[in-house]
Amino acid sequence: MQGAGPLLSVKNLYVKYKSYWYTYHVLDDVSINVKLGEKVGLIGESGAGKTTLLKSILRVLPTQGKITGGEIFYKDVDLLRCSKQRLLEIRRKNVGMIFQDPLAALNPVFTVKDQMLEVLRYANERADMNKSDLINMALDLLRDTLIPDPERVLNSYPFQLSGGMRQRIVIAMALASARELLLADEPTTNIDVTIQAQILKLIGDLVEKKGLSMILVSHALGLVRKMTDRVYVMYGGNIAEEAPTSKLFNEPLHPYMQLLLKTAPKLVESPLTEGIKSIPIDYRNPPTGCVFHPRCPYGDQEVCRKVKPPPIEVEKGRFVRCHLYGSGS
Ligand SMILES: Nc1ncnc2c1ncn2[C@@H]1O[C@H](COP(=O)(O)OP(=O)(O)O)[C@@H](O)[C@H]1O
Ligand SMILES: [Mg+2]
Repeated sequence: MQGAGPLLSVKNLYVKYKSYWYTYHVLDDVSINVKLGEKVGLIGESGAGKTTLLKSILRVLPTQGKITGGEIFYKDVDLLRCSKQRLLEIRRKNVGMIFQDPLAALNPVFTVKDQMLEVLRYANERADMNKSDLINMALDLLRDTLIPDPERVLNSYPFQLSGGMRQRIVIAMALASARELLLADEPTTNIDVTIQAQILKLIGDLVEKKGLSMILVSHALGLVRKMTDRVYVMYGGNIAEEAPTSKLFNEPLHPYMQLLLKTAPKLVESPLTEGIKSIPIDYRNPPTGCVFHPRCPYGDQEVCRKVKPPPIEVEKGRFVRCHLYGSGS
């Protein structure tokens, strides 16, 4: 294990999707890192590339998706070059992911028990573990996610359970493999609005209790503010801004982040399904210069139209890709 190095480090990542007719260059020089024990938020409107980034980390992009440049390290493991076996091991034992469409993660023809035991078996390949140990672990995980009557739930089929209950099971299963890092991709998208905040809080509490690191993707800006230490703001396949959470929300630097906060009704705990009306970027033909310039209140300068802004370190640990903060301005 490394000493002070980050747990996860993504450097200068480029990802494209290729269809028969088109190539979409989505991630464009994306760098992020997560330190041990850190909770990192990833925000930005739909189509910004958040899911693409998380799926790239675990190497679970759809077949049209290709990583064309950059590097991804999990501790000292080079995830883009390591063996398939090593990658599987990391997915099974170190890094768990709650996918954006979590209900699709449950197989309708197997009981919760079948599915949880399979995950737990891979996560705990130990000769001294028998089936009843695994069942006890599954029950503990269900209790962790505050599922009432876990014995009954364990023997149920997904369709016999409510959406909120299935969501908790998906979280429990992700936690089974997330010994160190949890990637939570809009973990409350498909569930009833009234319990979204409750589920996010549950995830936050469990991450805390188990001492995990986390990347949280969510539109619920008020909760991201509460639950994370640092935030990356994505726009059009780029990281627009990176900052400690409180600094970002108190004094957003990038015009996109300023807009995002202005349009978010109130930074209260209630989740916002959509903070800002999304105007999707055409990744076949993205804007030249700064990708945000066509929507930016300050974007009519020549430099904005022509030059992609490099990340500028405004203060220690605080980066913004915007010409407003460039040298000499
Ligand atoms: N399977 C795919 N094939 C082609 N393009 C895709 C595919 N998945 C995502 N994309 C493109 O990548 C862009 C970013 O998508 P995504 O990573 O899901 O964004 P986010 O999670 O921020 O909403 C989308 O706007 C879309 O154009
Ligand atoms: Mg997404």
